[in-house]
Amino acid sequence: MAAASTVPLPRGQAQEQRARLAAASSQAAGEISVSIRGITKSFGTTTALDAANLDIRRGEFFSLLGPSGCGKTTLLRIIGGFETPTSGDLLIAGRSALGDLPYRRRTNMVFQHGALFPHLNVAQNIAFGLEMKRLPKPDIAKKVEEALALVRLTGYGDRKVDQLSGGQRQRIAMARALVNDPEVLLLDEPLGALDLQLRLQMQEELRRLHRAIGGTFIFVTHDQGEAITMSDRIAVMNAGRIQQVGTPREVYERPATKFVAEFMGHSNFYEAVVASRDATDSGILTVGGQPFPTRLPADAAVGRTVFVALRYEKVDVVPGSTGAAGGPALAGTLEEETYMGSFVRRRVDLGSMGVIVSDAANTGRQVAMRPGDPVQVRWELDSATVLLN
Ligand SMILES: Nc1ncnc2c1ncn2[C@@H]1O[C@H](COP(=O)(O)OP(=O)(O)OP(=O)(O)O)[C@@H](O)[C@H]1O
Ligand SMILES: [Mg+2]
Repeated sequence: MAAASTVPLPRGQAQEQRARLAAASSQAAGEISVSIRGITKSFGTTTALDAANLDIRRGEFFSLLGPSGCGKTTLLRIIGGFETPTSGDLLIAGRSALGDLPYRRRTNMVFQHGALFPHLNVAQNIAFGLEMKRLPKPDIAKKVEEALALVRLTGYGDRKVDQLSGGQRQRIAMARALVNDPEVLLLDEPLGALDLQLRLQMQEELRRLHRAIGGTFIFVTHDQGEAITMSDRIAVMNAGRIQQVGTPREVYERPATKFVAEFMGHSNFYEAVVASRDATDSGILTVGGQPFPTRLPADAAVGRTVFVALRYEKVDVVPGSTGAAGGPALAGTLEEETYMGSFVRRRVDLGSMGVIVSDAANTGRQVAMRPGDPVQVRWELDSATVLLN
């Protein structure tokens, strides 16, 4: 029985309110939209996916990132229902979806080489899936108009596909997927074929679409910069295995494996031995007999052999042999300086430790240094990542 003060809402409004409440509670609970449970996929002797586990939350912009051939498309095709896993399970909105054909799933895919139908115009391309579902004509027309507006191509319905630019085609491919109101949008390198300017513009558009629609986006890319700027979370993949899952910051700043450290930007790598550590978890590694100050993970005991990764942009090079301000510094010799436009790359010879590379923003305030000059090299204690594997 309703409380006396409750005025029943008209049907439409009540539905809207329920949807809002459901959305709010699913956000609060971090509800899982897509769950990959131990999925392996073999093609003959090739293992495209090797026991992959992954939970993607509702409403997330989630990226699958990795080099060519690592299994990104295979994973996306399994979620969309275009490929069946060799073993493992796939849950969409909490229930196994493996038995469902693609069009029965709440997923829609924008394919890596997603050609539009050349003999249909833009509106017919977008309407295709709705016509398959036999929706009434006026409903289709309305949905097509809404989808065109979403991708900012209102008025393009009558155009032929070959009268569109590359970026416009990509947006139509997205409109064709969006028109089906998918709960999960699967995007397989949708910006891969675009030039840099258009790519950056389309990245913005995609973020805007995600905010406007609020569904789960699973986005495939092999471009780490793109994954970092676009995503709520990223799964980094290599050779069919998921190496790390985390926010862009976590994956970039705290790579879990050597592969991730290498793939996400440029790092100096050294094999090292833990020489000492103190109560604050800072310590000294020895690299080629030289001291390397760093923060250490709890399980890096004295005497243990580790890998240490230090990103190029975390390394400061200052001229001179003494008097560097703050923190410990290592003395070396500048080997090479390369102008890279927005930054300057320097290679410094650190004697028995080997070479260290530094990238410094091109602020226009640099002190000139020449090859052969004595320099000092510094980094913050927290900048290096010590890997035990
Ligand atoms: N239908 C298939 N038959 C045989 N091997 C396949 C098939 N599809 C994919 N593979 C293999 O599975 C592995 C993963 O392929 P996948 O297309 O998932 O890679 P990807 O990460 O999407 O690469 P790219 O960035 O180049 O698109 C590759 O070694 C590929 O050759
Ligand atoms: Mg692919």
